[in-house]
Amino acid sequence: MSKPRSVIITGAGSGIGAAVAEVFAAAGDRIYLADLSAERLRATATALGGTSVSTHEVDVTDAVAVEALAEEVVADHGGIDVLVSNAGVFDGAASIRDTTAELWEKVIGINLTGTFNVVKAVSEQMIAQRSGRVISIGSIAGQRAMPDGVAYCASKAALEGLVRRLAYDLGGHGVTANLVAPGVVRTGIRATSEEILGNLVPDTNVGVGTSTDLMDLLIPARRGGEPAEIAATVFFLASTGAAYINGEVIHVDGGWIAS
Ligand SMILES: NC(=O)c1ccc[n+]([C@@H]2O[C@H](COP(=O)([O-])OP(=O)(O)OC[C@H]3O[C@@H](n4cnc5c(N)ncnc54)[C@H](O)[C@@H]3O)[C@@H](O)[C@H]2O)c1
Repeated sequence: MSKPRSVIITGAGSGIGAAVAEVFAAAGDRIYLADLSAERLRATATALGGTSVSTHEVDVTDAVAVEALAEEVVADHGGIDVLVSNAGVFDGAASIRDTTAELWEKVIGINLTGTFNVVKAVSEQMIAQRSGRVISIGSIAGQRAMPDGVAYCASKAALEGLVRRLAYDLGGHGVTANLVAPGVVRTGIRATSEEILGNLVPDTNVGVGTSTDLMDLLIPARRGGEPAEIAATVFFLASTGAAYINGEVIHVDGGWIAS
């Protein structure tokens, strides 16, 4: 059996992050669950059980806290093998008219700067150890305007540029950086985003995921995805078989990007 990998997952308290944790835990890896919600972290850790899981109440917009987490992982495991930058919020498909400067800053701060912070915190270690996998969670919104809002679309499109440049910077050091872009996935993102963004965000009960008619029209699979279907691609990108995939955007969206 191969040595357990150290895996940091942000936004691990819910949805896709929790499913990613499950698949790595099943492989016997050492999982570091990070989220700003202690309650959700507890729920994920309890569902996973076992001793190879720890929880870290970290807000990805706090660069100092993120750096401390990376140092803790290195001290505990001796290195950082996989980073899954997944924490994100949905802006309720807010148009330019509905997007205040404050909403813009919040969404860009979590979805884009949050990923910059965690990548910045782990990349020197990955370069030094000459190995590592950086996997970011983007969205169909990186390339399609319809389902989401101004700040969300901008943040997810920017993540694609970030990942391409990371691939260029890190590829010569044995590290890959890729992005998994889901379409509609059945998670609690609408409720958690309302909780985090409060009244900055308009109604989150909008978008393709709330309409079976739109899903039938846009998604060849004619259904939303399950968190485990996104986690399976993340897990593959962390595997030996994916060593030569770098700077790629992989849509896991039931074929939406093709339609
Ligand atoms: N659900 C979908 O349909 C869908 C589609 C495309 C992309 N995505 C992306 O997938 C990722 C995960 O979304 P999900 O659907 O699982 O949502 P979710 O709300 O179920 O889980 C997201 C988790 O991230 C955490 N989080 C939010 N802000 C944080 C911060 N500043 N610091 C630390 N943790 C924070 C939340 O507390 C929550 O536990 C997001 O990046 C989202 O944009 C989701």
